[in-house]
Amino acid sequence: MDIPDALSQRLREAQHILFFTGAGVSAESGIPTFRDAMSGLWSRFEATDLATPEAFARDPALVWGWYEWRRRKVLQAAPNPAHRAIAGFLRHAEVSVITQNVDDLHERAGSPVSAHLHGSLHAPRCFACGHPASYPPGVPEVAEGGERIEPPCCHRCGGPLRPGVVWFGESLPEADWGAAMAAIEDADMVLSVGTSSLVWPAAEIPVWASRRGACVVQVNPQPTALDEIATVSLRGPAGAILPALLESAYGRSGA
Ligand code: OAD
Repeated sequence: MDIPDALSQRLREAQHILFFTGAGVSAESGIPTFRDAMSGLWSRFEATDLATPEAFARDPALVWGWYEWRRRKVLQAAPNPAHRAIAGFLRHAEVSVITQNVDDLHERAGSPVSAHLHGSLHAPRCFACGHPASYPPGVPEVAEGGERIEPPCCHRCGGPLRPGVVWFGESLPEADWGAAMAAIEDADMVLSVGTSSLVWPAAEIPVWASRRGACVVQVNPQPTALDEIATVSLRGPAGAILPALLESAYGRSGA
């Protein structure tokens, strides 16, 4: 893709770039998004049966087994050129990665993540007492689409373990939200990548950064709720556009 010269220059001059990412950045690694028409998780599964505290209380094995299927997919996936390009920016500017994703593909590509706003698939904790827990090593065996698996018990209180993700109706983790607010204060450029910009409060991040004067660039094959305020919307897959942005700003050797 051809990147406009003015955008390459702004990127090159940016002091602090905030990458705000959603499921689309991991789509090319084979991780399903939520709202894409055919393949999105919320077009195949009922969120209220799987992604609320009430659903877990009602049927812990159903919910645990579904998240174990998603964890299996992530463990079997690898970072794609979009994750790697974001890590490439770290060599040239101060970078903050704020993600809504519960996978660890940014970290595996070499980008420290300042905030996992919706938690992590890799940090289970007790549903009853909140004590952090860990998974045994290895990839869980789970059927495609998930199957019923009883959650392990907490070592401390015997309660059922839950995945470390944020469910509908729950607050975002305080420290992650604080890190996101700090990044907004400081960033002069925001790249919003692979998110429908529909889930609040996370979706406010590029909007607030824009109000503070940051240049907001959106990378997404589809129009989104952010189109109205984005300075530039680049339509296409992140795995093609982000490497092109990196190269256009810093040249082939810098990318
Ligand atoms: P969505 O599924 O809502 O949106 C994914 C976006 O990625 C869409 O706008 C797609 O057009 C875009 N997309 C698809 N393939 C892409 C590609 N190759 N490159 C770039 N973009 C691509 O996912 P999110 O916006 O991340 O929350 O959803 C936000 C939150 O809603 C999730 O974190 C999750 C969900 O419910 C919780 O689980 C709390």
